[in-house]
Amino acid sequence: MSQEKVLLEIENLRKYFSVKAGVFKKKRVQAVESVSFSIFKGETLGLVGESGCGKTTLGRTIIRLYEPTSGRIVYDGTPIYDSEKNIAVDMLPFRRKMQIIFQDPSASLDPRMTVGEIIGEALDIHKLCSGSQERRDRINELLDEVGLNTEHANRFPHEFSGGQQQRVGIARALAVEPEFIVCDEPISALDVSIQSQVVNMLEDLQAEKNLTYLFIAHDISVVRHISNRIGVMYLGQMVELGESYEVCSRPMHPYTQTLLSAVPLPDPVKSRARQRILLEGDIPSPVDPPSGCRFHTRCPYATDRCRQEQPRLKEHISGHYAACHLLDKG
Ligand SMILES: Nc1ncnc2c1ncn2[C@@H]1O[C@H](COP(=O)(O)OP(=O)(O)OP(=O)(O)O)[C@@H](O)[C@H]1O
Ligand code: SF4
Ligand SMILES: [Mg+2]
Repeated sequence: MSQEKVLLEIENLRKYFSVKAGVFKKKRVQAVESVSFSIFKGETLGLVGESGCGKTTLGRTIIRLYEPTSGRIVYDGTPIYDSEKNIAVDMLPFRRKMQIIFQDPSASLDPRMTVGEIIGEALDIHKLCSGSQERRDRINELLDEVGLNTEHANRFPHEFSGGQQQRVGIARALAVEPEFIVCDEPISALDVSIQSQVVNMLEDLQAEKNLTYLFIAHDISVVRHISNRIGVMYLGQMVELGESYEVCSRPMHPYTQTLLSAVPLPDPVKSRARQRILLEGDIPSPVDPPSGCRFHTRCPYATDRCRQEQPRLKEHISGHYAACHLLDKG
């Protein structure tokens, strides 16, 4: 894997949703707020954070399944979105390069289409096969790549287990030979016994095809071993980003420390001895996020400065970024 070349550059990306709050009123949900980071070619970047912190919204906005509210997205040197320069390119050619695997495989597959039709549709949209034989062969090849067989092409999604449905979702994403895939919690709806099979398959496919992944998970323990780097989100913002080992062994942000303190250690004695940091209260609403540092309402170290001034994501040691005023002291 080469970490030198940047595949995706995200700058000050925002995604707000407008939702009804009564008959005439509307509320603005600040789901993603000024997020900036890069994704390197061939890497797996794990994205973690509590439910509702904006992981799915960020993943979908990066590939413009959701239209951004503002910011800049550059894919392999080409700006595909830039609110300041009024750039919003036609995404059809980029859909071949950027794909997504959804969290809930059963909901993401059309129940009226056979598996062959689902995979074939992706091939048709991008005109990737010149005849019906080539199309059939390609569908069979894709089924084989994800551990399914040719007979499965004529079946409907409900005739499959959750793990098999997710394999179909992966085959559909692979059909267009993408370079970048947003894996949005691809294993969290699956039985624990098959989660590692699907993760192993995604890792093998990555090595074989030199894919780049943004791998979203609730739980840092799911991504720590498969990610080259980890990004931690809190209430729509990136609060820490760095090499996976660095973030997990020397977490800088109090929120990351909390997430890691909840991960059980392999040694039960050490696990019991370690102090678990409990967060008070629920994640605040992105409709009316806290002033200053968005984490201040739950942070054990919050000061007046935290309530007033928003900390910026800064590089504190090489490649390790965090957004916390505490880190400015030394
Ligand atoms: N289409 C939408 N319309 C309005 N609000 C939305 C929409 N999608 C997401 N949100 C809101 O944006 C915020 C971020 O949601 P998002 O689904 O991105 O979080 P998440 O981190 O993926 O959560 P989870 O771990 O539960 O999947 C939430 O407050 C959510 O309610
Ligand atoms: S800036 Fe303040 S409130 Fe925010 S994480 Fe750091 S210490 Fe906690
Ligand atoms: Mg999500």
